[in-house]
Amino acid sequence: MKGVILAGGTGTRLRPMTSIVNKHLLPVGKHPMIHYAIEKMAEAGIKQVLLIIGKQSAGLYMDYIGLGQQWGVEICYKIQENAGGIAQGLALAEGYTLPGEKLLLILADNLFEDSLNAQVQKFESQGTGAHVFLKQMKDSRRYGVPVFDQGRIARILEKPANPPSDYAVTGIYLYDDQVFDIIRTLQPSARGELEITDLNNVYAERGALSHSLLSGWWVDAGTHRSLLDAGMKLLERDRL
Ligand code: DAU
Repeated sequence: MKGVILAGGTGTRLRPMTSIVNKHLLPVGKHPMIHYAIEKMAEAGIKQVLLIIGKQSAGLYMDYIGLGQQWGVEICYKIQENAGGIAQGLALAEGYTLPGEKLLLILADNLFEDSLNAQVQKFESQGTGAHVFLKQMKDSRRYGVPVFDQGRIARILEKPANPPSDYAVTGIYLYDDQVFDIIRTLQPSARGELEITDLNNVYAERGALSHSLLSGWWVDAGTHRSLLDAGMKLLERDRL
């Protein structure tokens, strides 16, 4: 299985810092944020990883990561010219992942404790369709939120004002090789983006969306407060 990390986007909620440097290079704990998604890929046993970045700070990414030897993975880079949505960014991985190959996608602002190794092995050997990782949250309104029907995800609502459940769909996803054909059928949302939630809803409609729960902590470090929270958790983890 190959890995794809999305680290483009504009990081508007973290301005003014993100006016001068891309969000995923901001410090979290001891490292720039991007470090942790690569670490999670390596921990999951994935050796080849495509890193999708925007044009902002592109040289800094290469200075820090190089080819990825520090993590024992091989990193390739692609540029997403404009932040047209998570699904649009993922579409750039077509050709990097080969027909028949599955992929693990991590959004680089997602910081979390669990190892993905067991689910990755399971999806690699028996999985079809797509798989999402959920986390129970006090307030799920900032995230994709699943609607359950008899224990399965019937559909996902993106940032609903009245969440149908207290689970967040995290930015960690497993896909089969149908994913690129499905992305081609998506239409931009009201905010002009190709949405990851619309992609996952196609799998849900086909009855091909499975899920599992993260047991450890999980933070979407997209705001000043959550960035600090993730930093504290990682400092504790690394005993600093
Ligand atoms: O973190 C989990 C959430 O991530 C999910 O619950 C939501 O369903 C999903 O839509 C997403 O929501 P966000 O509002 O957090 O997405 P955001 O725009 O912050 O983008 C997440 C990451 O994806 C971020 O690290 C940058 C990257 N990205 C985003 C866009 C829009 C790209 O690389 N390219 C893009 O065009």
